[in-house]
Amino acid sequence: MGAGRETGVHRESTEEVPTMFSDNSRKTGAMSRRDFARAAALGVPAAATCSAWARQKAAPLPPTPATADEKYWSAVREQFVLAPDLIALNAANLCPSSRPALDALFDHTRDVDRDPSFNNRARMTAGKETTRKLLASYLRVTPEEIIITRNTSEANNLVSSGIDLKAGDEVIIFSDNHPSNHQAWTEKTKRFGFTVRTVEQVNPHPGAEFYIQAFTRAMTPQTRVLAFTHLTNTVGDLFPARELCRISRERGILTLVDGAQSLGLMDVDLGDMQPDFYTGSAHKWPCGPKECGVLYINKAAQSRIWPSIYSAYTGAAGISRTFEGFGQRDEPAIISFGEAVKFFDGIGRAAIEKRARELAQALMEGLRKMDGVKIWTHADPARSVAVVSFQPGGLDTRKLSAALYEKDRIACATRGGADRGGLRFSPHLYNSHAEIERTLAAVKRYLSTGV
Ligand SMILES: Cc1ncc(COP(=O)(O)O)c(C=O)c1O
Repeated sequence: MGAGRETGVHRESTEEVPTMFSDNSRKTGAMSRRDFARAAALGVPAAATCSAWARQKAAPLPPTPATADEKYWSAVREQFVLAPDLIALNAANLCPSSRPALDALFDHTRDVDRDPSFNNRARMTAGKETTRKLLASYLRVTPEEIIITRNTSEANNLVSSGIDLKAGDEVIIFSDNHPSNHQAWTEKTKRFGFTVRTVEQVNPHPGAEFYIQAFTRAMTPQTRVLAFTHLTNTVGDLFPARELCRISRERGILTLVDGAQSLGLMDVDLGDMQPDFYTGSAHKWPCGPKECGVLYINKAAQSRIWPSIYSAYTGAAGISRTFEGFGQRDEPAIISFGEAVKFFDGIGRAAIEKRARELAQALMEGLRKMDGVKIWTHADPARSVAVVSFQPGGLDTRKLSAALYEKDRIACATRGGADRGGLRFSPHLYNSHAEIERTLAAVKRYLSTGV
C-alpha cells in the first residue's frame, strides 16, 4: 500500500471527454450513461468511450436505505465500469470488478512496478494480512482460518490433495459438483486408493430433506469426507449446507463446501454453517479481481490437512503460516479482493442477497409465462438463489445466446447437451428490473420469430 495514499481512489480520471457530451460532463469530466449512449450512436470508437467511462471516478455510494429502491441500485451500478448498454447476466461465471476493487488493483500494481524493492513490498504484505482479516470478518470466522488462494479450483484441490486418504476410505461427492470438486476426487482415487460414492442430482430440486436423506444414506463407517456444492453453477440448486455439515460432524466426517456460487451472493455465515473447508473465488459474485480466491480451514480440521505447496512468503496468521507458502504473489490483486469485500460490506450482505434473489424471481416469473420454456431452476427460495437455467423451447441455444449478445447486448451463458441444456441467466446487484424486463422481452420475441 503506498504511503499516504488513499485506497479505492482513482487518480487518473483526466482522460479527455469527447465534446459531444453534456456541459456537465465536460466540466466535471464525468460521463453519464446518456453520454455513453450518445457517443455510441455518433460512432465514437467504442474503445475511446469505454476507456473514458471506465477511468472516471464514481460519486460516493450513499448509505443503503432501509428499503433499497431502483434509484439506490442504479447508484450501485455506477460503482462498476460495466458498459452502460450491456446487460450482464453471467455472474455465475465472471463478474465485473467493482470500482473500489479495480482502483485498488491499478493503484497498487502501479505502486509495485514503480518501486519493486523489498522495502516497498513490505507494505503489500501488510495489505495481504488486512485482506485476510476482511475475509474472516466477511465469513464470520477468524483470520487464523483463512488461506488466500488463486481461485476455487485451487482451493478445492488443496483439500482433495491435502487430506490423508488411503485404500478403504470413502469420499461422498455430488454428481453435479464442478470438475474441481468432482473430477479432482475421482482422479485422485487412482493415486491414493480411496473410493468415491456419488449422490445423484434430481431435477427439479426435490427439497433439502431429500438430499439430507440421500447424503446420510450414502454415509458408511468408512466415509471420511463429504464434498458438495453450496449452490450449483448449472441449474442453481441450493444445498442445506448447515445441516449436511452437522450430520457429517456427528459422524466424524470432514466437509468441503464449494462456495464458488455462494461467496459474495449469499449472506454466508461460516460460524453458523461450520464446514471443515469452504472455498470461493474473488472474480465471481464478490466482484473482486481475477485469479484470487479463498480457502477456509476450520480450526477443528487444521490437524487433518497437509500443505501441498512449500515455498517462500507464507501468510502471517494461523494456518496460513504453514499452508500458504505459495511463493511470490500478486499482492495488488489480494489487496483488491479486500477492497471488494469492504465495498460489499458497506452495502450489506443481506441487502445484496435480497436484491439478486428479487431479480432472479422476476426472471423466473416472466419465463414461466412463455409457452415452451422449461425452467430447470426451482423457484422456492429454499432451493435456489440467483442462478436461473431454462430451455428456451425448440430454439438453438447457441444461436439464441449469440443473438442476445450481438443484437440485444445481453450477456449470458449456454449449456449444451441433452441434459438440462439451455441458457443460464445469473443477475447480481448491478442489474436492474428494467434490464430484466428487456431480457424477458427479447427472449419472448425470439421464441415467436425464431433466431
Ligand atoms: C461451483 C463451482 N466450483 C468451482 C468453480 C471453479 O471456479 P474457478 O474457475 O474460479 O476456480 C466454479 C466455476 O464456475 C463453480 O461454479
